[in-house]
Amino acid sequence: MVADDPDKSSAASSLLNLARIESGLDAQRLGTKFHYLQQTDSTNKVARRLAENGATEGEIVIAAQQSEGRGRLGRSWVSPADVNLYCSIVLRPKLVPAHAAQITLMAAVALADAISAFIPLEPTIKWPNDILVDGKKLAGILTESSCTSERVEFVVLGIGVNLNFPLAEMPPEIRARASSLMELRGAPVDREAFIRRLIQDLDRCYGVLLELGFAKLAPRWESYFALRNRPVRVEMIDQIVIGRAKGIDAQGALLVESGDGAVHAIIAGDVIPLAD
Ligand code: BTN
Repeated sequence: MVADDPDKSSAASSLLNLARIESGLDAQRLGTKFHYLQQTDSTNKVARRLAENGATEGEIVIAAQQSEGRGRLGRSWVSPADVNLYCSIVLRPKLVPAHAAQITLMAAVALADAISAFIPLEPTIKWPNDILVDGKKLAGILTESSCTSERVEFVVLGIGVNLNFPLAEMPPEIRARASSLMELRGAPVDREAFIRRLIQDLDRCYGVLLELGFAKLAPRWESYFALRNRPVRVEMIDQIVIGRAKGIDAQGALLVESGDGAVHAIIAGDVIPLAD
């Protein structure tokens, strides 16, 4: 375990006990080293810097609070202190750049598996990376890759999960469409137990991806995908597609069949479910 700033480390705080996360952690590739920060701008930024400076596969940055938590599409991620999980993991997968998006989909499966273990409700995945329960967002994934033309050099896998975030303390702009594990269980969640479980589920799914390929994970992803055959509107940077969501292809692109029968493979965009 590495505490980057001794004055601000978990050792000085009784708030998150890293020893409890590490004790009994059963993982092959992830959790090779932990970096804990009481406060940072964004764990993705910290992990990127570490990766650029040679961090090895599986190093994990966890922060108790983020001042500039980042979401997809330039959005921010609300990151109050000591209630949620904000973590970023350095990965060095042997993947071609075209397959880098598989990391996000792999992580969504692991996240949904971990969440299922803590609540009696089934989470769903909203392509590509939102985890929802009862239509409310509980967790998000922000992957940032560094690639050469031939291979992925590293991926920073950033994950935010609303754990013990009271609905009443959420900013009004997210309260109507977000939730937390505590709100869904009706009781606070043991954050260390959740983090350990998540690392183990990520480690298992990452192992399947590397050793057996994305095709082995795709059925599990599809089982959490709630929008199959449902009408959707997908907003991309340069166009909008309206049609029925059909699932994902081997690259993790969302397949949407429009009214004229054409199937669009969408790499990046925002999916908005429409009324049937
Ligand atoms: C999204 O759903 O838009 C993605 C949210 C990702 C948030 C996490 S919190 C830890 C990591 N650090 C960040 O700045 N963002 C990710």
